[in-house]
Amino acid sequence: MKFFVDTADIKEIRELNELGLLDGVTTNPSLILKSGGKIAEVTKQICDIVDGPVSAEVVATEYSAMMKEAETLSKIAENVCIKVPLTLDGLKACRSIRNDMNRMVNVTLCFSANQALLAAKAGASFISPFVGRVDDTGVDGMELISEIRTIYDNYDFATEILVASVRTVNHVKQSALIGADVATVPPATLKALVKHPLTDNGLKAFLADWEKTGQKIG
Ligand code: E4P
Repeated sequence: MKFFVDTADIKEIRELNELGLLDGVTTNPSLILKSGGKIAEVTKQICDIVDGPVSAEVVATEYSAMMKEAETLSKIAENVCIKVPLTLDGLKACRSIRNDMNRMVNVTLCFSANQALLAAKAGASFISPFVGRVDDTGVDGMELISEIRTIYDNYDFATEILVASVRTVNHVKQSALIGADVATVPPATLKALVKHPLTDNGLKAFLADWEKTGQKIG
């Protein structure tokens, strides 16, 4: 499973990339707001750091305006993946961006298996089901990922399932068990994947014993 980081924070992206943890980045209008920067500049900075897909979202809601924004965003860098909302205009734009602009498209704000089916038929490179926000409604968000996995496998759709709105390390584990293609994870949750108290305790004990040997390596 690939790891994308769900942030527009350049410092975090640089650090995670240097750790070798990043296969891509997702941003959205709220994350651009949080970054305090301009979308074109922030997206360019991210693309200069990360080789994989960097999702940048259109904010127009009508097809022609979406296409204009997609043109502008795609000029920022080769690895910009255009993010469009899961609406009828968004699906139409998805098809055009894939076919006419030959660009990757991430269809976002997916909350049902039928929406994911439509996105795959529109040729989406990625579908972004929001598991955390589904959990918030009292429904199990991971169930949605299982349903989409089954449907995509039934018809051999090439669209990658990009699990979004990830809140916990358990969301990441469940995504991997189900066979999702990608999880886009906030920086803190991504770093938390490494944590285990027995690892910390074990390392502490090994280092204490090593100290007692009085030896040095090299
Ligand atoms: C994905 O691409 C979205 O940007 C993101 O995962 C939304 O997450 P949130 O529900 O935490 O805002």
